[in-house]
Amino acid sequence: MTIGDRGAAMPDVTAFKAAIGARRCTIGVIGLGYVGLPLVLRFGEVGFRVVGFDIDAAKVQQLNAGHSYIQHVPSPRVRALVDERRFEATADLKRLAEPDAIIICVPTPLTAHREPDLRYVETTADAVAAVLRRGQLVCLESTTYPGTTEEVVLPRLEAGGLRVGHDFFLAFSPEREDPGNAHFDTATIPKVVGGVTADCLALATTLYEQAIKQVVPVASTRVAEATKILENVYRAVNIALVNELKIAFERMGINVWDVIEAAKTKPFGFQPFYPGPGLGGHCIPIDPFYLTWKAREYGVTTRFIELAGEVNAGMPAYVIHRLMDALNERGKALKGARVLVLGAAYKRDTDDPRESPGLEIMEDLLQKGALVHYSDPHLPRLPFGRRHKIDLASVTLSAASIAAYDAVLLVTDHSSFPYELIQRHASLIVDSRNAFRARGLSGDNVVPA
Ligand SMILES: NC(=O)c1ccc[n+]([C@@H]2O[C@H](COP(=O)([O-])OP(=O)(O)OC[C@H]3O[C@@H](n4cnc5c(N)ncnc54)[C@H](O)[C@@H]3O)[C@@H](O)[C@H]2O)c1
Repeated sequence: MTIGDRGAAMPDVTAFKAAIGARRCTIGVIGLGYVGLPLVLRFGEVGFRVVGFDIDAAKVQQLNAGHSYIQHVPSPRVRALVDERRFEATADLKRLAEPDAIIICVPTPLTAHREPDLRYVETTADAVAAVLRRGQLVCLESTTYPGTTEEVVLPRLEAGGLRVGHDFFLAFSPEREDPGNAHFDTATIPKVVGGVTADCLALATTLYEQAIKQVVPVASTRVAEATKILENVYRAVNIALVNELKIAFERMGINVWDVIEAAKTKPFGFQPFYPGPGLGGHCIPIDPFYLTWKAREYGVTTRFIELAGEVNAGMPAYVIHRLMDALNERGKALKGARVLVLGAAYKRDTDDPRESPGLEIMEDLLQKGALVHYSDPHLPRLPFGRRHKIDLASVTLSAASIAAYDAVLLVTDHSSFPYELIQRHASLIVDSRNAFRARGLSGDNVVPA
């Protein structure tokens, strides 16, 4: 349906809610990535017509041909919706006038100076503003600092003369996608929603309730934005804490994973977090710094966030240091050593290389003169990333290929790695995930890192 247009009277909120409930409206999703694509599928599968918008023409073409380009999003789900004409992708942002509800899922990275890079949100808001019509609902999902919806998106949408809460509606609902999580998906992860006005909140809540089991309305867009930041800061700080404890305990001859396993038997007041080779992914290494930047505007220093960032950012170097020590004990220098890095994706059993500590570790090892290869069943070839320039193909693991390296460095503990085979044939294993010990494979050649 079309709830209104640029020249029509004020939109009827009750009629809009009824149209959403009856699936008589079209949903537009901007940004068909790890967040946007699962959302498209969920809304399509509950009966909505969905138009997906992306500036990447290759993704648009692939999706319209029924192919998913994300490993954990199965192509048959995309193909079914395309075949039923319930989903189509386009790079033509002028068609943003078509949907009644628009959901924005574009990237929110950091600049080289670790400041918020809102250019994708800004250009998307401008594209929506260029065609905005009466009655449209716009929801921002990209993770960002509190205030973005009302300070950055709202003025752009109102620039053409339409007013929020009267002519169009605006809300913020943080995405909580956890790719690869076997227990929770888009439909079952509760969704927090904040609206600019009461009608904005009511409409956005009605929309999400059609596709998501539990919707949690909150007082404002700022509360919704801050909720996502709290969740990610909580993880960043707690991961930094166990990373710091790992280093301290290691000097004392105590294995931190043993300590966490024991501590987690406490039935209250403790939640386990695990150390690793450094943070990765689109969220935890980035989002906390959105708040740090915003807090400066209010004269506040977010010391916990900065300290956690410092500790976590030091982990790749710590892992390399452990590798250098272990090689040294075996009479070898890192320079000239053959090192096989296991895992290039940042997270177990996923194909996502964004912000992966594995890439940083490989670059550092190459700079130090090591001969570096990698193996990752989910990433057969390393992309030329924006920051990382490594051009390598994944090594197939066999007794002979494993034995050919001076050291194997485990960065990402994919379930499908042949751990026993590796332990039997590697001369040295530096394990940053406790993956070998957890499987009862703790020979002399396994060093924790
Ligand atoms: N990946 C996750 O697990 C996750 C979880 C929670 C929140 N988030 C947040 O969700 C947002 C999106 O993340 P993602 O992981 O889906 O990113 P992504 O890089 O996988 O996808 C973003 C997509 O947006 C497209 N795009 C960029 N600019 C555009 C524009 N102007 N118009 C149309 N399309 C455009 C890109 O081509 C890309 O396909 C970010 O703010 C992120 O922090 C991500």
